[in-house]
Amino acid sequence: MKIAFFDAHDFEIPVFEEKNSLHKHEIHFFSARLTPKTASLAKDFPAVCVFTNDDLGSETLRILKEGGTKLIALRSAGYNHVDLKAATNLELKVVRVPEYSPYSVAEHAVALILTLNRKIHRAFNRVREGNFSLSGLVGFDLHNKTVGVIGIGKIGQAFCRIMHGFGCKLILFDFHEDENFANEVGGKYKTLKELFEESDIISLHLPLNTSTQHLISDDAFTKMKTGVMIINTGRGALIDTKALIKNLKSGKVGSAGLDVYENESGIFFSDLSCQILTDDVLARLMTFSNVVITGHQAFLTNEALRNIAETTLENIADFEKSLPLINIVNL
Ligand code: NAI
Repeated sequence: MKIAFFDAHDFEIPVFEEKNSLHKHEIHFFSARLTPKTASLAKDFPAVCVFTNDDLGSETLRILKEGGTKLIALRSAGYNHVDLKAATNLELKVVRVPEYSPYSVAEHAVALILTLNRKIHRAFNRVREGNFSLSGLVGFDLHNKTVGVIGIGKIGQAFCRIMHGFGCKLILFDFHEDENFANEVGGKYKTLKELFEESDIISLHLPLNTSTQHLISDDAFTKMKTGVMIINTGRGALIDTKALIKNLKSGKVGSAGLDVYENESGIFFSDLSCQILTDDVLARLMTFSNVVITGHQAFLTNEALRNIAETTLENIADFEKSLPLINIVNL
């Protein structure tokens, strides 16, 4: 099948080329993000392959439909960036990769915790400058600390297992409670309010949708312990970023590790090092020494990339052969 592959990056092209030797799809790699302006590149391509920061709003989808697109293959698990209603109305099928490596994201969340707690980002810079002072580098034992985990799905569970290994107490929140899993990690399901009040570290592993947008609001911060560490590898808009900044300034939030940012589209995945950063909210966040930001790289392991390529290409092959689409998101 002819595939227009948008937002193509050097780290994924060789993996897709290798895995495609089995399928022999005709893949055209475009470095451009998919937007209403670039959608015409996909004219006469029945399949369009996209990632998390491509624009799949109604305008883009309309242009794709007019150009002959029939299938949108997401290289991601999350599909909050797709106007599913518009896609369904236009009879565009949307498929995704529901699971590629929960360990990749869970382990990255732990990397953010360890970096912030033991101030590795600061120590790295200091030592390179010949500054071996330990002032300001005091961390805390993770052992016995209380970690609140919001969203106990595939990634949340992998994260809980790691933190259980560190000797942390776990508070769990999800609208589907699995007592067997809670027992396995010595955790307890509690209300969101209790989780906010009791946790030393809070990590978010929820999808973004209308009920989870700005779940971590100014009101939520007021319920939290002073000095709480916030970790977000879910989606940026789970947190009200302006409220986070306010609470970092006041000291209510002790540190934050963010792999995602609510306005990351058009910024993350690009080298903007020779340009002026025009996003003032992100620029302010980047000034805090107790904030570590990574550019949506939590998924970025060899294992995850291989699984993403395999499932995406299989999803497209199933569509081509009119087989049932097991990973469809709009029925
Ligand atoms: P999952 O579907 O296995 O788990 C999500 C969990 O959240 C489920 O247990 C569900 O019951 C729960 N949930 C959903 N809405 C809720 C609500 N309103 N209140 C309480 N619980 C709720 O998903 P998975 O694979 O664990 O991924 C979680 C999220 O991580 C994805 O939706 C995606 O946004 C993000 N992600 C981030 C990546 C990165 O590179 N930073 C890579 C992959 C996923």
